[in-house]
Amino acid sequence: MKTLNKDISEVLVSEADLNEINARLGAQITKDFKDKNLLVVGILKGSVYFMTDLTRHIDLPLKIDFLAVSSYGSSTRSSGSVKIIKDIDIDLEGYDVLLIEDILDSGRTLQYVSKMLEARNAKSISICTLLDKPARRVVDLKPDYVGCDVPDEFVVGYGLDYDQKYRNLPYIGSLKREIYE
Ligand code: IMP
Ligand code: MG
Repeated sequence: MKTLNKDISEVLVSEADLNEINARLGAQITKDFKDKNLLVVGILKGSVYFMTDLTRHIDLPLKIDFLAVSSYGSSTRSSGSVKIIKDIDIDLEGYDVLLIEDILDSGRTLQYVSKMLEARNAKSISICTLLDKPARRVVDLKPDYVGCDVPDEFVVGYGLDYDQKYRNLPYIGSLKREIYE
């Protein structure tokens, strides 16, 4: 058994849980996108670990691309003012886009991004988030695929960061409050 990172108070989603989530969502997405033209778009950087594992469970031809956004605000809360800092390279016309996000909090980031991509004539836009904090939603946005819900705590690991750290933890854990307060 590996020792827990000293800054983590509790593991919320273990490696085994993550494997199950990826297998379950991958099978569902494989069914739902069977006759579609799938383009998987990951939102950098948080979605990278999830996206690379999830797509290995999608048994369909697909393409991938990435988008980077920045949100201004304090480091543990997003402000809602979103800016595109790296756009996708592929022309969206005719694609069924599956947006991949690490965590859905207020929902502002994904609302902004999905509206922007809708305006570019994608055939459809669906949203897949690894984690959801439904208690914190401030906009009306319903993800199509959710790995699991998490309580209103700051979580890191498996792509999610605090101050660009902890992304490489192989599990999702609660960050000790003393680290960010
Ligand atoms: P939203 O726009 O409020 O939904 O914020 C979503 C973004 O905030 C995510 O893509 C994350 O980058 C970040 N975020 C929100 N909650 C957490 C968390 O608990 N840990 C790490 N990042 C988070
Ligand atoms: Mg993010």
